[in-house]
Amino acid sequence: MNDHERSSSVDGTVRVGDLTFDNPVIAASGTFGFGGELAPYYDLSVLGGICTKGLTLRPRAGNPPPRVAETASGMLNAVGLQNPGIESFLEKELPRMLSYGSRIIANIAGQELCEYAELARLLDQTEVDAVELNLSCPNVSAGCLAIGSEPHLIEEVTAACREVTDKPLWVKLTPNVTHIALCAQAAERGGADAVVLINTLLGLAVDLATERPILRNNTGGLSGPAIKPVALRMVKEVYDHTDIPIVGLGGIARAEDALEFMLCGASAVQVGTASLVDPGMIFRLPGEMAEIASQYGYSRLAEFTGRLQFWERT
Ligand SMILES: Cc1cc2nc3c(=O)[nH]c(=O)nc-3n(C[C@H](O)[C@H](O)[C@H](O)COP(=O)(O)O)c2cc1C
Repeated sequence: MNDHERSSSVDGTVRVGDLTFDNPVIAASGTFGFGGELAPYYDLSVLGGICTKGLTLRPRAGNPPPRVAETASGMLNAVGLQNPGIESFLEKELPRMLSYGSRIIANIAGQELCEYAELARLLDQTEVDAVELNLSCPNVSAGCLAIGSEPHLIEEVTAACREVTDKPLWVKLTPNVTHIALCAQAAERGGADAVVLINTLLGLAVDLATERPILRNNTGGLSGPAIKPVALRMVKEVYDHTDIPIVGLGGIARAEDALEFMLCGASAVQVGTASLVDPGMIFRLPGEMAEIASQYGYSRLAEFTGRLQFWERT
């Protein structure tokens, strides 16, 4: 048997709650649009799933530029949830996305709990496979603190969405907290089917010449390989303290990275910033993960999930 035959005998199927994916690789929110730009060049059905850009009730133009800045091993962004709004998504983008042959996860964002619930309700009767709550948004009534930094708000917003939809509910957590496991447990109590971690880490890039922040928004979210160690640590912590599946992301740039997330407890993974650097990488990932799995003697990618053993503390 040659390398190719061996890797194609590896079963890539994974489950996230009640949802089955052909493979664990999902395009992350905000770095893949709605798939339309890449569809002419790549076979999108190769992916386990595609997560939409964050959707809001009304269209949003996003923040003024500059809204991205390169950093060592990563980038800062303050795009500010530019999107066409839920109505336009349902009318124009979703029908196109359904033709791609990949699972669709709708990422939603609001500034009030009721906005999340309204978005979840609007998605309930559609053909999206899951709804992902982006809880990194500033909550207007809670003094613009991110909803995701307060466990009681996480539980409340998850429960409010749970009430209005039977779709699998994924809760995407912000890493800008002290105790990520408490946030994941709050999502679990609220009725989440899975937690997704991590979103971007809050950062600042400075322009020495102008003595101003580089981003017009002042601060932005750090993503890319620089954040992978933080993300892996958080995935492991949440895996050890919750009973719901984890979708892991943060700095995945090669197949080995994705498998490391699975070892730490992720059932599936998402790829974000790497798609902005090398749009073809995500499409090679399922095959490359299978190849590595076969080299290590695995017959199923799902077998990687949660196998990481911590050293005993001395
Ligand atoms: C330009 C850009 C836009 C993003 N937009 C969203 C978004 O709309 N909703 C969301 O939940 N996450 C968004 N994210 C966060 C990513 O989905 C992901 O959680 C984060 O970038 C970490 O993964 P990565 O290091 O693989 O990029 C965005 C990230 C980037 C770089």
